[in-house]
Amino acid sequence: MADNDLMDKLVSLAKRRGYVFQSSEIYGGAGSVWDYGPLGVELKRNVKEAWWRAMVHTRDDIEGLDAAILMHPRVWEASGHVAEFTDPLVECRNCHRRYRVDILLAETGAADLPEARCPSCGRTGEWTEPRQFNLMFKTFMGPVEDEASVVYLRPETAQGIYVNFLNVQTTMRQRVPFGIAQVGKAFRNEITPGNFTFRTREFEQMEMQFFVEPGTDEEWFERWREARLAWMRDEIGLSPERLRYHPHEKLAHYASAAGDIEFFFGGTIGDAGWGEIEGIHNRTDFDLRRHQEYSGKRLEYIDPATQKRYLPFIIETSAGADRVTLAVLANGYREEEVEGETRVVLGIHPRLAPVKAGVFPLVKKDGMPERADAIHRALGRQGIPSFYDESGAIGRRYRRQDEAGTPFGITVDGQTLEDGTVTVRDRDPMQQQRIAEDQIVGYLRERL
Ligand code: GAP
Repeated sequence: MADNDLMDKLVSLAKRRGYVFQSSEIYGGAGSVWDYGPLGVELKRNVKEAWWRAMVHTRDDIEGLDAAILMHPRVWEASGHVAEFTDPLVECRNCHRRYRVDILLAETGAADLPEARCPSCGRTGEWTEPRQFNLMFKTFMGPVEDEASVVYLRPETAQGIYVNFLNVQTTMRQRVPFGIAQVGKAFRNEITPGNFTFRTREFEQMEMQFFVEPGTDEEWFERWREARLAWMRDEIGLSPERLRYHPHEKLAHYASAAGDIEFFFGGTIGDAGWGEIEGIHNRTDFDLRRHQEYSGKRLEYIDPATQKRYLPFIIETSAGADRVTLAVLANGYREEEVEGETRVVLGIHPRLAPVKAGVFPLVKKDGMPERADAIHRALGRQGIPSFYDESGAIGRRYRRQDEAGTPFGITVDGQTLEDGTVTVRDRDPMQQQRIAEDQIVGYLRERL
């Protein structure tokens, strides 16, 4: 399958199966904003829960936080976002379409701006001078719309963590090195959004800030870089050959070292199909120093053993929940020839799959629907989402669930009524085995 086709197929499958819908679709859609449907919301929740488990629940040295989206406007002056969070924007004088310069050059393959052909009208050499465009969304706090009441929708969740550094450290009696994790919405007025949910104006981040003693930062950077790559591979199930680490040549204003975990999406995403899904940054003491300066509050840590006072350095791991979710879909999508027909499969890891099992009566009679429905309800009570389906031939019902990413199919048939066993079909090898009804929960739990 050509790379470009994959994204088109994913967009269509995502809509057909209830993963992702265009926001405000009945009004013609809102620019690069997407809504997660019934299956999409489950998949994205499972991604976020896997992250929270790895970062917070299984570690004693990381605490969770849920900070507000709206913050004091001085936060964004201290962080450098008011002055620096900009992208170079150019406009085509002929058709008035606007582009981010680096994306325009990458997508057109032009060496410099005068050479770049406008992707919209095809003219060359009609570009305005690049100007810096700030990506933060502005709004007003309270009823008066003046400069004094301007607030921003946060463009990253990280700052909510920095301003709470001492609150969390003292209340949880944590000692450096320790981290603070949070998952939440972020907003950027991207000049060139696109590629489905890859680059949007409203998205969700899973960010962890790890506070370390200066001098140990390089070692922690390496540890986190490896840990995050391993998580993408082992917990999320992304294929190793579609994952790579790409160090940054150009560093953001706050970083002394940085790199991206990239996934191979193909098509027009990123660098020849490799797109960033997570950034790892050594932010030094830039953020705490600036917040100390702008707030006038001391943010130093005092080591209880040595009484040494210092501003910790921060190693940040910043993943996009939407991009990781898109990577899971792209990684899992495949088409196979089965008995002369094309089978579309979303090979999502069972732990992440929105629905864990389809439950089917072989036929709509002889008490099979009631028996299958009872299994479906019992699974729900055990916290295992399943889907009951009695319509159409059994083969078609299996195919519908294959396409939705459901890893198991449980079928009640004539033998069930005699000996209480059901067949369980595994989505990937399409093999079936018989197990007793009372073993279904254990069977599924072992594999989730
Ligand atoms: N606090 C650091 C920070 O925000 P970033 O590299 O700008 O770093 C981190 O963003 C992650 O957030 C990215 O790796 C990506 O997964 C996600 N992200 C950033 N901009 C996005 C957008 N416009 N749409 C979807 N996800 C985005």
